[in-house]
Amino acid sequence: MESLNRRKFIQHTGLLAAGSLLSPLAGYGYRREKQRLAMVGTGGRGIGMWGTSVVEAYSDIVEFVGLCDINPGRVAYAKNQMKVACPVYTDFDKMLREAKPDTLIVTTTDSTHHEFIIKGLEAGLRVISEKPMTTDAEKCEAIFEAEKRTGNKVIVTFNMRYTPYVEEIWELLRNGEIGDIKSVDLNWYLDTSHGASYFRRWHGERQFGGTLLVHKATHHFDTLNYWMDSEPEEVFAYGSLDFYGQKNSPIHHTHCRTCPHKSSCNFYWDITKDRGAMNLYVDHEKHDGYLRDGCVFRKEIDIYDTMAVQYRYANGVPVNYSLTAFSPYEGFRVAINGTKGRLDAWIKSSMPTGVPPYQEIVITNLFGHVKTIQVIPQSGGHGGSDPRLKDKIFRFPDSPDRFKQSAGSRDGAMSALIGIAARQSIETGKIVKIADLTSLKPLAKKA
Ligand SMILES: NC(=O)c1ccc[n+]([C@@H]2O[C@H](COP(=O)([O-])OP(=O)(O)OC[C@H]3O[C@@H](n4cnc5c(N)ncnc54)[C@H](O)[C@@H]3O)[C@@H](O)[C@H]2O)c1
Repeated sequence: MESLNRRKFIQHTGLLAAGSLLSPLAGYGYRREKQRLAMVGTGGRGIGMWGTSVVEAYSDIVEFVGLCDINPGRVAYAKNQMKVACPVYTDFDKMLREAKPDTLIVTTTDSTHHEFIIKGLEAGLRVISEKPMTTDAEKCEAIFEAEKRTGNKVIVTFNMRYTPYVEEIWELLRNGEIGDIKSVDLNWYLDTSHGASYFRRWHGERQFGGTLLVHKATHHFDTLNYWMDSEPEEVFAYGSLDFYGQKNSPIHHTHCRTCPHKSSCNFYWDITKDRGAMNLYVDHEKHDGYLRDGCVFRKEIDIYDTMAVQYRYANGVPVNYSLTAFSPYEGFRVAINGTKGRLDAWIKSSMPTGVPPYQEIVITNLFGHVKTIQVIPQSGGHGGSDPRLKDKIFRFPDSPDRFKQSAGSRDGAMSALIGIAARQSIETGKIVKIADLTSLKPLAKKA
């Protein structure tokens, strides 16, 4: 059994050391002054991942010059939480005009990303967008056109690529441990806490998040694209709303605080006991009417909670993927079959019996030899991936991309398009070809 904690630690240190041989300021534009950051969408992810922690860790090289949100209360709260002195805006164009940022961080609801990505590219900014890059094929195309028109490129932040076990699997596959890859099974389980949270929020309506096939599965599809080193070619899917949503419960309401069924509902959540959620959302409801403790059985929910997708890569590798949003525990199982053996991983995030302190990857040679690798998660958000991604974005943008973790609009589109194609397939009952959705033609080997 091989524990990779120490080896990975050495590799990660190596990356940072390599980066530090360059000037820490030898980043975007090779300027000596601080990067001038603006953020649009000052909600949970904006403040947590791209706000407070960036101010704490990178203030020697970055400064916030503007924050924008359609909710005036939330953006004022963000400024206070982030302890920054910059102006706040509800008008994005005004922020660009007045604050004159050079870097834009896009952390709004998914279906609006394209709007700010395009405006940022047009203004000549370094644009950093949260996943999913966007939620529809037309919006992908509009982003490609803006990139062509302006010569600028968006960065899409797939933090999952930076998790140690994802990186380890990528390396094992590239080292030929299982030979040529021939097929993949990936099953993702969201539990009745995390899974339900998507149905409480804007994510429960496809107009905002494009369904979990886009909002959530973009992580999984991007990781598969990354591991397979190929692009998806055609997709078939089934999807249904079997557990959440109005039709699946005799009791439902608008949101938990005023619900008459509090005592009988397994999903009753007393948001008033969560100070952070009260400060960030409830205190600013009066501005936009957004109810953060929405009922998981409310009538507006129109996404799927049960999804099965079968798709094939341009290099011929077929994938069986499923996503379940009401599991008693959370994690994923992946099995990758190759000409020399098989890779299995059962990555546990929440278990009734407790989560082990390591994540195990097993390589079984076709003729019986078994190698087990334990990867220890790192500290920091999302298994240590968030801080590593931020180091790459802000401090060491020019460090070698040894594990090919940087992603742009093509990667952003190729992961979202699997979900978009799956949605279309569910609606039509037909196989959907990725090449029919946008001007991108899938490559057998990623560029
Ligand atoms: N990579 C990850 O692991 C990860 C984790 C969480 C969220 N995210 C992504 O981050 C983004 C934000 O998610 P969140 O959880 O912070 O949601 P949130 O609801 O907490 O915040 C979204 C914010 O965007 C604002 N907004 C919406 N439309 C806007 C517009 N047109 N102009 C200006 N502001 C607008 C809302 O008022 C809200 O404050 C999403 O795209 C989500 O997919 C990524």
